[in-house]
Amino acid sequence: MPLVDTSTGTPFHDNYVMDGVRLWHARDNSLIPVGSPQILLRYVRFTRINQERMIAANLVRVLNLRDGQQILVVGDGFGWLQEELAKLLPASQIISTDTSTWVHAEKTRDETDVINAALDAATDRRTRAPMVLDAATRTLWLNRFLDGNRSRVSVFNEALDDAASRDRIKAMFSNTDPDKADWAITGNVLSWITDAEAQRLSVSAHDLADNVAHVTRAAIAKHLSETEPDPWNWKWIEDLSPTTDLLDRQTWYTTTSWKDLLPNDLIIEDGTWRVV
Ligand SMILES: C[S@@+](CC[C@H](N)C(=O)[O-])C[C@H]1O[C@@H](n2cnc3c(N)ncnc32)[C@H](O)[C@@H]1O
Repeated sequence: MPLVDTSTGTPFHDNYVMDGVRLWHARDNSLIPVGSPQILLRYVRFTRINQERMIAANLVRVLNLRDGQQILVVGDGFGWLQEELAKLLPASQIISTDTSTWVHAEKTRDETDVINAALDAATDRRTRAPMVLDAATRTLWLNRFLDGNRSRVSVFNEALDDAASRDRIKAMFSNTDPDKADWAITGNVLSWITDAEAQRLSVSAHDLADNVAHVTRAAIAKHLSETEPDPWNWKWIEDLSPTTDLLDRQTWYTTTSWKDLLPNDLIIEDGTWRVV
């Protein structure tokens, strides 16, 4: 049983909050006009695709992904990492999986409801007081943030945890030689599953791909002094040592604890792009 119940959008929306207005102006390379609202977007294409673009570019760089290689993206949500990888690797065959029933229920829907909820909750950027947007402002931001249906690519509901599931994925890759894809990559998946699930997923991924890599997060300073709530699995790759002094319930809470758990895989630190 994964640590996070992905049958609803709540954990996605709660874990991915981003200032949409700031992102809009950052992309535009323009300053935020005085009086602009703060609109906190949750798990929506507009913000995540932007992040996935950076992740894709850095994955290509640090893993030396080459165009034409076959790539399995495990736990790809709505397939946004595949979309961005495909722009950089147009000759590659990329297949995405995700086991969230919420993802599969929502993948062909647009995000009008979530974006409207964010517009309803807009605040004054300076004072943080609630801010009621006039109709024109609402329409302006809705149109800027709304980007059609969530998914543009196929996402397969395959857990890879039995041979039949893996065989279905193998059959989707064309011309694999000997019969494995080049890469299996997960993005922000490890922290939502138990350690045992992460280890099983690693074994399954190695059955499907020559190389397995996981993008995961660096240590979050505020959590370093906290004890891991069982069975939560806060692990990190982190240069500050020894973190074992602070997280002493598991012997392998070391500076590279994900790597200790999954020694056959590459662990990539989101943000610094260090590979362990
Ligand atoms: C934190 S979300 C990350 C989604 C996406 N990669 C992103 O960064 O926006 C973790 C995802 O992993 C998926 N997941 C967990 N275990 C999985 C498995 N064995 N196979 C496929 N997807 C899995 C969950 O359904 C969830 O959508």
